[in-house]
Amino acid sequence: MLFLLGCGELSNSKSHIMTINDPHSFARPEICSITHLDWKAKIHFGRKVISATATFTIETSDSASELILDTKDLKVHSVENGNNESLNFKMGEDIPHLGRPLTIEITGATKRVVIEYETSPEAEALQWLVPAQTADKTSPFLFTQSQAILARSWLPIQDSPGVRFTYRAEVSVPQGLLALMSAANPTTTNNTGIYQFEMKQPIPAYLMALAVGRLEFASLGPRSGVYAEPSMLQKSAHEFEDLEEMISSAETLYGPYQWDRYDLIVLPPSFPFGGMENPRLTFVTPTILAGDKSLTSLVAHELAHSWSGNLVTNATWDDFWLNEGFTVYFENRIMEAVYGREYSEMLALLALQDLKTEIEDLIKSGKEADTHLKLNLSGRNPDDGMTAIAYDKGYFFLRLLEERVGRARFDDFLKGYFAKNAFKVMTTETFIDQLKRDLIEASHLDIGDDLLHAWIYGPGLPDNCPLPVSGKFENVDLAITDWLKNASKSNLEKEFNSSSWSTHEWLRFIRQLPDTLGAQRMASLDSAFGFTVSGNSEIFAAWAVHVIANDYKPAYDHLEAFLINTGRRKFLMPLYTELIKTEEGKQMAKAIYQKARPNYHYVSSSSIDALLDIK
Ligand code: BES
Ligand code: ZN
Repeated sequence: MLFLLGCGELSNSKSHIMTINDPHSFARPEICSITHLDWKAKIHFGRKVISATATFTIETSDSASELILDTKDLKVHSVENGNNESLNFKMGEDIPHLGRPLTIEITGATKRVVIEYETSPEAEALQWLVPAQTADKTSPFLFTQSQAILARSWLPIQDSPGVRFTYRAEVSVPQGLLALMSAANPTTTNNTGIYQFEMKQPIPAYLMALAVGRLEFASLGPRSGVYAEPSMLQKSAHEFEDLEEMISSAETLYGPYQWDRYDLIVLPPSFPFGGMENPRLTFVTPTILAGDKSLTSLVAHELAHSWSGNLVTNATWDDFWLNEGFTVYFENRIMEAVYGREYSEMLALLALQDLKTEIEDLIKSGKEADTHLKLNLSGRNPDDGMTAIAYDKGYFFLRLLEERVGRARFDDFLKGYFAKNAFKVMTTETFIDQLKRDLIEASHLDIGDDLLHAWIYGPGLPDNCPLPVSGKFENVDLAITDWLKNASKSNLEKEFNSSSWSTHEWLRFIRQLPDTLGAQRMASLDSAFGFTVSGNSEIFAAWAVHVIANDYKPAYDHLEAFLINTGRRKFLMPLYTELIKTEEGKQMAKAIYQKARPNYHYVSSSSIDALLDIK
């Protein structure tokens, strides 16, 4: 997809045209683009399909002769212009990852396009759950996951992050279920099963979202709340108690929240991500309900996307770091504001460790170019760009800028950046221009092109990467070293002085353990600290890697249950990867996966299919 961006808007001084090429969309918005969607849909749980009418308001150039939409596995019944006059259309060739272009004949005078269509039961964005796969086990559940390019499997749409539109929807669901979207939402179930939605702010297609299930709402503050299945509601409301404070801290940092309400929905455990920043309604995994709020930095992250990503949006998936790197930086600042620097520095150190491992892995597998912030995903699945590079290398780059220019100046710059570019698309190159003009040159700072280029277009981690400091982690590291030297000590709790350790210290501890501990040491740690029975998913997942590496059999039942129950790809991939390192483990992985696969969303099952070589 090509579209033109009037650069005059960005630089007042010069009005030249910049061309953006999105290799992951067939749409040609420079010829004709959608500006509004009216979506009327019916959800059929029995057949696992959505039947719908999508009415688009379009903007065309005078000479336009076609509107091109992205589709994947959609059955298009008819297309007309809103006056019952049918429009010719054709479906193009099916291209791997991208699906098929739907080309509709229009003229420069066409204002509307009405498409009647149905989704496929295999639609990749959709996961249809039977009651047994939910928390309460009483009702079916449906949720979508559109990012990066899966919106086209449930809507014919210009599925490029550079195309924004507003929407209204009317969704009809079985009685007793509640429907929610990335829009203004109802809070209670009604008798008709028909729900209305409105999203007034223009959003890109990857932020289109829908969830349907037996859901209830609990208010958390004047403009925030949480939806969950009834049995999960109280626990969820408790876990996210600090949400209002996060929102106001975020606003203090980078300007007003622009989406009116901010609600969360806790999904069933098969949700393939930790969180997804669907506007007004962040989707989250139940695996962050640790009971002690210790995993809620994820909520700060999704909230931060209300600025970085949802307001200022990466132009293409090659610029993904603009969404995620900024968001990790912003997340860290929110956590610092709410819980203090000591806390946020632990998060930063864990991120640095992830980043170093990711860089090593990518370089080992010959993918050095994927360690650049600016990616080239043309001809590939944009999912390939979803690594710690965009997130954590992006974070450390922004942190380096902050440290070089001073926090006050950097915050001013970011506040201005979000204000100036709100509801617009951003390329890496435009960001660099603005950074140079509005921060570096404006303040006569000594930050050369070399530094910017090394971080953005160069491989690996530059030497000037900031190093977070945590006294708490230093103590953890000392405790491990000491313990490894003195195997005989028995009262580990006392020995480590760990009674007050937070989840993050425990994560540091588990991650720093040597690869091979042996069954006996595994057992003594486990009996002292109960890692195998930990209700904290991050702790269990980190421990489980050692469980596999050490063939620590007492934890295998828990491991199997965790893999069957949880669909979060971030947990699944390292565990299956560790399992398939041995022949025995491979058999075990396949046996478990056979039982688990029906519980996974396409996003997770497609990754694990590839890992286990299953076609
Ligand atoms: N927007 C992402 C999730 C995503 C990225 C989905 C790319 C599909 C393609 C979301 O904000 C995210 O980053 N989630 C993370 C949590 C975060 C705390 C790092 C996750 O799900 O693990
Ligand atoms: Zn994110």
